[in-house]
Parts: sequence; structure tokens; C-alpha cells
Amino acid sequence: MQAHASAPGKIILCGEHAVVYGRPAIALPLSGIRARASVTSGAPGIGVRFDAPDLERRWLLSTAPNDPLSELTLATLQQLGIVETPDIQITITSDIPIASGMGSGAAIATAIVRALAAAFGQNLSAAEVSALVYESEQRYHGTPSGIDNTVIAYEQAIWFQRRSEPPHLIEPLPIATPFTLLIGDTGVRSATRLPVGEVRRRWQEDPACYEALFDQVAEIVHQARCALAEGDIAALGPLLDRNQELLEQIGVSSPELERLIAAARRAGAAGAKLSGGGWGGVMIALVDAETLAPVRDALLAAGAARVLETSVSATA
Ligand code: PMV
Repeated sequence: MQAHASAPGKIILCGEHAVVYGRPAIALPLSGIRARASVTSGAPGIGVRFDAPDLERRWLLSTAPNDPLSELTLATLQQLGIVETPDIQITITSDIPIASGMGSGAAIATAIVRALAAAFGQNLSAAEVSALVYESEQRYHGTPSGIDNTVIAYEQAIWFQRRSEPPHLIEPLPIATPFTLLIGDTGVRSATRLPVGEVRRRWQEDPACYEALFDQVAEIVHQARCALAEGDIAALGPLLDRNQELLEQIGVSSPELERLIAAARRAGAAGAKLSGGGWGGVMIALVDAETLAPVRDALLAAGAARVLETSVSATA
């Protein structure tokens, strides 16, 4: 038995945090940055063995049944109708920095689900993969909106709006003109559940204030959707800047993020904001052919641990 599968990283273009409270958000897959899983036959009697060299982890399902990836594997086997635990080895590798807002956890989970389905000769739909990964995300995040598992499982630019009950609103996002983003990694690892938990605490304390902030984010996300549909990339930059202001008010920015954002803007980025959970992780900057190199240099000079480039294609 030998099956391989992979899944992309992702970034949120706009709408993070408000999306947990039912507002829309736009997310993009990062097809060039991926997590991979392979499933091969394992030693008889051992059950499922996990080997994740990039995470510096190796474990047996039987000795760590409550590990989120063990639980995901059991749920996937169940969904595939595999009743007896097979003797298999699952090897996980990933190019996606962990706890950085790029969907590393959801991408690893998606790659595992796909590799297991392939190993047992079955096909799972994107919706089925997404649902299994969502369940797994809940163990890490508490109250994930569902946007990560969705954009990663469908691997296309999406408009996402959580409803109180699934199915959530998931629409492919029309993009009329390609554009380029630089992703600057602060190098500060930040588990998403921490800022998500803090925002919930503040929202509970002052719901009116936070609901108003989330409404303002939603307005920006709607405008960004129009800008992308019309190919008006010039309109996108200021929307990203405005979303960053609101994220600062929501309380999920950080000095490291703001240093990179300011450097990108000074070097000519048309707009810049944090992306994902915040308090660390990554920021994104909208660039063009002329500003790409100076913004990349400025991000590195301002202390970015790495800078990645992603080109977002126009949709057909
Ligand atoms: O840190 P990330 O990329 O997993 O971002 C999560 C986005 C949030 O809106 C902050 C949380 C969520 O579940 O949508």
C-alpha cells in the first residue's frame, strides 16, 4: 500500500475574527506551500503509526488515542467504513510554518484525510473532507469559524460566511484581474485559539462595541469582493489598510505585525494587514511588479523571519 496526498496553506485576505461571529470573509489557497501525507503498510500488529519529522513527533495511535491527529484518523477510517484498525504508517511533512496564520493544522489534517481515502481506494468529496477537518480543528481552536478547512479542502478562493447551523455559505470568489501578495512572517508563533478566546471575552464584556466593529469589517469584505469582481485592484489596498485598523481595535494586532505592516507601506505596498489569528504569525502586503522587490527587502530589513510571494490568478 502506498498513497500520497497534499493540501495547500491558506491566507485570509480580509474578515478574520469577524467571521467567527457570522460576518463574511475572503480566503485564498496558497497552492505553492503545502502539507503532505503518505500512507504505507505498517508492521503487523502495530496499528496506526504516525511519523511527523517536521513537527519532530512520532507516535502510535494506540498509545496516544486522544491526540487530535489520532482522533482525526479514527474518524476518517470510520467514515471510510474501515472497522478494524489497519496496520499503516502515516508520514506527515509540511512546508507551512506552524501557528502562523497560514492554516498549517488544517492543511496537515486535509492531507491525512485525503491520503487515507486514497490508500483505501475511496473518494471523499471536498465537503466531506472539509467536515472531517473541521471536527479536528475544533479540538485545537475551540470555536473555529470553518473558513480554514473550507478554503483548504476546496483549494480555491472563497467567500465564506458562517451560519449558526451548517451548511455555511461557501461561494467561489470571482477574481477579474490577477494580483500579487507578499506574506511577511513575524516569526512569532501564535496559537489561533488564544486571540480567538480573548476576542470572545471582550465581546462578552461589550457586545455592542464588538458587534459594531464586526459590522464594519463585514462592510470592507463586501467592498473587497466588488473590487475583485471588477478587477479594481487599486481599490483593494485601502480596504486592507482599513481592515487592519479595525483588527487593531479588535485587539489582535501586535508590535511585530505593525512593524512589518508599516515597513511594507513605506516601501510602496498598496495596502497591508495582518492575516489570520494575529498576535503574531503573518501579515500580507499588496504589491505590483514595481513594488514587489522593494517591499520584500523592506520586510526583511524590518525583521521578517521569511517573506513568501503568492500570485492570485483570475478566475475563469
Ligand atoms: O490563524 P488562522 O489563520 O487559523 O486564522 C483563523 C481565523 C480566525 O478568523 C481568527 C478564526 C477562525 O476560526 O476563523
